[in-house]
Amino acid sequence: MFRTPSGEGVARATADRSARRPQDRRVARAAPPSLTTAAPHPTQRPPPARLPDPAPRPVTAPASARRVAPHQRLYVNVDHVATLRQARRGDEPDPVRAAALCEDAGADGITAHLREDRRHVQDADIEALHGTVRTAFNLEMAATDAMVALALRLRPPQVTLVPERREEVTTEGGLDVRHEPARLARQLAALNEAGVRSSLFIAPDADAVRASRDLGAHAVELHTGPYAHGAPGALGALDAAAELAAVLGLAVHAGHGLTADNVGPVAALPEVEELNIGHSIVSRAVYVGLAESVRQVRAAMDAARAGLARPA
Ligand code: PXP
Repeated sequence: MFRTPSGEGVARATADRSARRPQDRRVARAAPPSLTTAAPHPTQRPPPARLPDPAPRPVTAPASARRVAPHQRLYVNVDHVATLRQARRGDEPDPVRAAALCEDAGADGITAHLREDRRHVQDADIEALHGTVRTAFNLEMAATDAMVALALRLRPPQVTLVPERREEVTTEGGLDVRHEPARLARQLAALNEAGVRSSLFIAPDADAVRASRDLGAHAVELHTGPYAHGAPGALGALDAAAELAAVLGLAVHAGHGLTADNVGPVAALPEVEELNIGHSIVSRAVYVGLAESVRQVRAAMDAARAGLARPA
């Protein structure tokens, strides 16, 4: 039994190897986007087909019926390496060099957020990361046409669309997927057509999950900020949203505010296949070094998933 920051208890789910996985129940899917010009992401797959919602059932199905992501990826967000560099507007520390160290230490991917105000990561960083990341590069950006145009020019393996407000210290809430849905759907279609895997950063909320599926995203990244801050019920909300997203054919990512100390219960959610973690890894690097900081989070993730049965 894990304890969350708010004291909630969640049993570590186990999966029955013989259980039919949600993706096995899917029927006709959309044709894959053209991948002629972009290298496919390791997990590239077509956006989910528009299927009717599944019949109502208990919010959390028996663990045996849930899909277990085979390998949970750790993507390290290097924004805060750039934050430190921008404090002096110099060359160090270099997020590109830091990204390589993270990859050497076992990161499965690198994430960077090019904010509209360019407060940390700069355009040149994005170009350099895109050219040098050996694993997978996840470009985080606001859902503006200018940012999407940049992504379509670079064609990174993955783009995560996030809400952005200039006055915020960090990304504060999930994307409002009900605001201007036609624009979001058009942006996602353009990314999908370009062979870019698309993810929407959303609150762990059933309506937002369904809307993300309807808009055509490949994945949702569930906002773990409330969980990290100990909000009551936050882990249960993540659990239910992860399960629903997988049933609807979406890949499930999660992130924000996660640390080596609190990541366990989120890492143990069966369907979560990718975690994006930045601030705590870069912060702890001050004490233990970047490679060790990455390894500590990886070890916490692996320990949390050790009890999950491998998918059939
Ligand atoms: N995921 C998203 C969408 C984010 O915006 C951020 C913060 O940049 C993170 C994950 C990483 O959050 P943290 O830096 O708190 O680990």
